[in-house]
Amino acid sequence: MTGGTAGIGLQLTLELAAQGWDVTVVARDEARGAAAVARIDEAAGRAAGRFVRADLSSVAETRATGRRLAAEGPLHLLVNNVGGMWTERWLSPEGIEASVALNHLSPYVLTETLLESLTAAAPSRIVNITSGAVAAALPVFDDVEPPGPHYGLAATGRAKLAHLAHTVELAGRLADTGVTVLAADPGPAATDNAAQMTVDILPPELRPHWEQIREGVTRPLHLAVRGPLAAATGAVPAAGAGLVIGPAGEPDSTLLGSVTPEVTRAVRTWTEKLLATTGP
Ligand SMILES: NC(=O)c1ccc[n+]([C@@H]2O[C@H](COP(=O)([O-])OP(=O)(O)OC[C@H]3O[C@@H](n4cnc5c(N)ncnc54)[C@H](OP(=O)(O)O)[C@@H]3O)[C@@H](O)[C@H]2O)c1
Repeated sequence: MTGGTAGIGLQLTLELAAQGWDVTVVARDEARGAAAVARIDEAAGRAAGRFVRADLSSVAETRATGRRLAAEGPLHLLVNNVGGMWTERWLSPEGIEASVALNHLSPYVLTETLLESLTAAAPSRIVNITSGAVAAALPVFDDVEPPGPHYGLAATGRAKLAHLAHTVELAGRLADTGVTVLAADPGPAATDNAAQMTVDILPPELRPHWEQIREGVTRPLHLAVRGPLAAATGAVPAAGAGLVIGPAGEPDSTLLGSVTPEVTRAVRTWTEKLLATTGP
């Protein structure tokens, strides 16, 4: 579980621990990590939690962490939860805009490094946490960032769209391996990430809707994990139902409308170019 020390990731981790899973949470803050492990152990009624420290905004650190975890052997479930939307534009240690680094490159690289472990544990699952922000994406992948001024909603939407396109492609690639690949949209939720957002995440034309959007992100965490929990542990959707589990915990293909063959091709080339700038 990436980013399992707070917000949606922590809530999902607690639910998984209560269902009997052993959980490794990967995040940056040691103190929050220790507190999360204590809560996981309490939810499980035994020692079920482990914290691994990593800054997943760094491709190099993500790759090193993935390789370290891969050396431990089979892995039954990978939840790529880390990600978010930021009011202020900021850059990762490798100089890549943070929405792209955390919502797309980090889960992309971590998954690639863990594929052998997931295949070895088949039937196993990969769950990528997506977002309704996909609907606000400008599907242009000519450069690291989209053209025009930075708006958090659009930046995150585009990075989540890129990762959703990759998720669809990966699901096809792994179809015969016993590794199920799903995306899960938690819907809005009251988390630390949501709390730091201001109206500046919105382009001017959407600003009249800010109060309504802000109200949405008071939604409690137990509701926000319905989709992710169903994707992680529920029945695999029937063929043709699509691979996104929506906020209600049911297959929901709404976001897949944005994943066109052109977007998928553009994302593939764009990702390869970006990763080429980050070293082996
Ligand atoms: N909240 C919403 O309304 C909403 C809506 C739709 C989708 N989502 C998606 O749900 C996911 C979780 O979001 P959230 O709102 O629950 O976030 P959150 O409350 O801010 O929690 C983020 C988690 O990720 C960890 N993290 C942050 N940056 C990291 C980094 N660079 N390296 C490693 N770990 C890092 C944090 O721990 P440390 O700070 O200790 O590293 C924390 O455990 C994201 O993918 C987000 O896009 C959220």
